[in-house]
Amino acid sequence: MSHIAWADAWSRANTTFFAHNQAEDHFATSIHADGQVANALASLINQQHQVHRDREFFVIDVGSGSGRLLEQLRTRVDGDVQLLGIDIRERPADLPHDIQWRQMQISENNYDVIGTSRDSAGVVIAHEFLDDVPCEVFELDEDASPRLVLVDPATGAEELGPHLCDSAAVTLLDSIRPDEIRAWLEAWWPATRPGGRREAGIARQRVWSGLVRSVQVGCAVAIDYTHTQADRIAGVWDGGTLKGFSAGRPQRAVPDGSVNITAHVALDALASRHARLATQDQIVGKPTLTSWPVGLGSYTWLIEPIGASQ
Ligand SMILES: C[S@@+](CC[C@H](N)C(=O)[O-])C[C@H]1O[C@@H](n2cnc3c(N)ncnc32)[C@H](O)[C@@H]1O
Repeated sequence: MSHIAWADAWSRANTTFFAHNQAEDHFATSIHADGQVANALASLINQQHQVHRDREFFVIDVGSGSGRLLEQLRTRVDGDVQLLGIDIRERPADLPHDIQWRQMQISENNYDVIGTSRDSAGVVIAHEFLDDVPCEVFELDEDASPRLVLVDPATGAEELGPHLCDSAAVTLLDSIRPDEIRAWLEAWWPATRPGGRREAGIARQRVWSGLVRSVQVGCAVAIDYTHTQADRIAGVWDGGTLKGFSAGRPQRAVPDGSVNITAHVALDALASRHARLATQDQIVGKPTLTSWPVGLGSYTWLIEPIGASQ
C-alpha cells in the first residue's frame, strides 16, 4: 500500500492491534497501580448520584479494557448504580456478572450508547481512551504552513502531502473539512516554526461531544496524557507526540497493527467554559503513579458537566 493520511492508517492500525491484543497485556495504566484513581472517581460518582437520585444512574467506562476500573468502582459506589463497560473487545471472562458490557467500536457517530430516550443520569469515563482516537498529522513547511503528513502503513515511512488549500487534501481528509482543521490549528496549536508537527484533534472533539450526550445529566470525565495550549504555542510540543506502544514501552509509530498508536490529547480544546481541568495529582491530592515514563506531559482530568449539572 502506498502512502495514506495518518488518521486513516492510525484507525486501521488500532483496529488491528486491539483485535489481537488486550490492553492490559501491553500497558499498566494508573488504575492498575492502586485504588487512588478509583477512590477519586467514586467520590465524584457518589456526589452526582446524590444529586440525581430520582433517575436511573449509570457509570459508563468507555474503552474499559479489562474492566478493572469498574471492578474497583463496584465496591465504592451505591449498589443501585449501574456499571457499564464499553470496548471493542469481548466482555472479559472474569468480569463480575453485575457489571454490564457492550462490545462496540466508538466512533465520531456514536452517542446513543445506552439509549437517549432513557431518563438517565450518570458519569461517563474515558480513561486513557481518547489518546487512541486518530488525529490527522501535519508538518509546517518552510513558510510555516501546515501540510498533511502521509505514511506508509507497512513501514511507517512518511512523506509530506498536500497543503490544506489543495483539492487533494479534501479527498485524503475524508469526513473532515480543511477549513475545520485550519480553524482548529489556529485556535489550539498555531504555527510556530518550519518543521513543527501537529496532531489535529477534530475526531476527538466529535467523539467527546458524542460521549457527553450519553446521559442526560451528570458529568463526563476524560483522563489522559495531555499538553496545554500555552506549551503548544510556546513550541514545547513541536516534535509532536505520536507514538507506538506495546510490551510496556514506547515504540516507533509504525501503523501496521503491531503496536498501539497514540498521541497526547489536547484536553483544553475539548473543555467547555463550565468544565474543570486539573492534574491527576491535584485531583487525588498526592502524587500518583501513571503508565508512562515521566517527561511526556502531565496526566490530566477533564470534568465536563452534562445537562442540568451545568
Ligand atoms: C489504553 S487502553 C485503556 C484501558 C483502560 N481504560 C485503562 O485505562 O486501563 C484503551 C482501550 O480502549 C479500547 N478501544 C480503543 N479504541 C476503541 C474504540 N474506537 N471503541 C471502543 N473501544 C476502543 C481498547 O480495546 C482498549 O481496551
